[in-house]
Amino acid sequence: MTAGNEGTVADIVVVGLGYVGMPLALRLSKAFPVRGFDIDAGRIAELREGYDRTHEVERAPLLAALDSGALRLEQESAACRGAGAYIVTVPTPVDADNRPDLTLVERACASVAAMLDAAAQPVVVFESTVYPGVTEDVCGPILEKASGLARGRDFFLGYSPERINPGDREHTVDRITKVVAGENPEVTARLCAIYGEVTSGGVFAASSIRVAEAAKVIENAQRDINIAFINEVAQITRKLGISIYDVLDAAKTKWNFLPFQPGMVGGHCIGVDPYHLSHCAQGLGHDPQVILAGRSINDGMAGRRARPRAGAGLAGAGAWPCLQGERARPAQQQSRRSGRGAGGARAPARGPRPAGRQA
Ligand SMILES: NC(=O)c1ccc[n+]([C@@H]2O[C@H](COP(=O)([O-])OP(=O)(O)OC[C@H]3O[C@@H](n4cnc5c(N)ncnc54)[C@H](O)[C@@H]3O)[C@@H](O)[C@H]2O)c1
Repeated sequence: MTAGNEGTVADIVVVGLGYVGMPLALRLSKAFPVRGFDIDAGRIAELREGYDRTHEVERAPLLAALDSGALRLEQESAACRGAGAYIVTVPTPVDADNRPDLTLVERACASVAAMLDAAAQPVVVFESTVYPGVTEDVCGPILEKASGLARGRDFFLGYSPERINPGDREHTVDRITKVVAGENPEVTARLCAIYGEVTSGGVFAASSIRVAEAAKVIENAQRDINIAFINEVAQITRKLGISIYDVLDAAKTKWNFLPFQPGMVGGHCIGVDPYHLSHCAQGLGHDPQVILAGRSINDGMAGRRARPRAGAGLAGAGAWPCLQGERARPAQQQSRRSGRGAGGARAPARGPRPAGRQA
């Protein structure tokens, strides 16, 4: 068969067991034999003991999956050979100049290449957030070169963006709509079959891998821009001597006003993903003015302090106190800039309040 092993999935390897990979591996293990692979020996050891430092999976179901053999955790690539599907969920940070750093995903491709067995007709699916073209133009060639196998004959490519938010117990991996795309319709059908077992939220088959990659980065870039607009309005209302919250209360009585709030962007990805899109745009000779303006305004919020709502019991008019009590950004938000793994350092607990958290 050359089209992608229509609908058959023997077993799955999840590569990178962090905020995204671990909940996914556990959920997949309810329907498929799953091996989870991570290069962090400490992470593997903790997970084998039932402890998830990201607090995304609970001890009892993790230990149950491990005890039953439905889920195995590996740090040796040799133990992950011959699977029907590989799902890559490693970090894709930006560097100090806000350019996408694909080093970790490139290294993961080299590891996966050594695991591929053409007899299994494997599909390699990327869930890491990337700009359009990375799966096919960067990852595919690495997999081919390192494995000596031919894409489209011996193995196949797919992309499925992740949307979960760390700590969000409502929009979990088993409930949200999953966008999938394969390199041909048969691979897409295969991904629909896999992810259809994962989520009750439905699976959306995008028309191409590039479309699915683009969908992910524009989701978060759009949110970033909307928040940036309100942050800019807040600067104007401050100069006017009126409350941004009073203005928003009035404006949102209009049926189609989007109720964004001023503040820092939260979550793992909003402050990073737009740079993947702007990098892609610049590579195409397009100047991404709106995207970068949004980033500039929202990055600047780190040095500002959110003004309280009138009557909120905080300091009086004109004061801009630091609001406390917001959950510190999870470690991974740091790692999107540093490339550090799931156990990275904690962010400071003080500062302007997040205006939106999103994966
Ligand atoms: N965390 C989120 O909320 C979220 C949401 C949507 C999308 N994403 C995207 O998903 C991707 C993963 O993010 P994350 O938050 O799960 O990262 P993470 O840092 O929590 O976990 C990544 C894991 O990958 C492992 N790893 C790194 N290189 C590896 C390799 N070569 N082989 C095997 N394992 C390797 C690390 O040890 C770590 O355990 C990123 O592209 C991110 O943008 C994250």
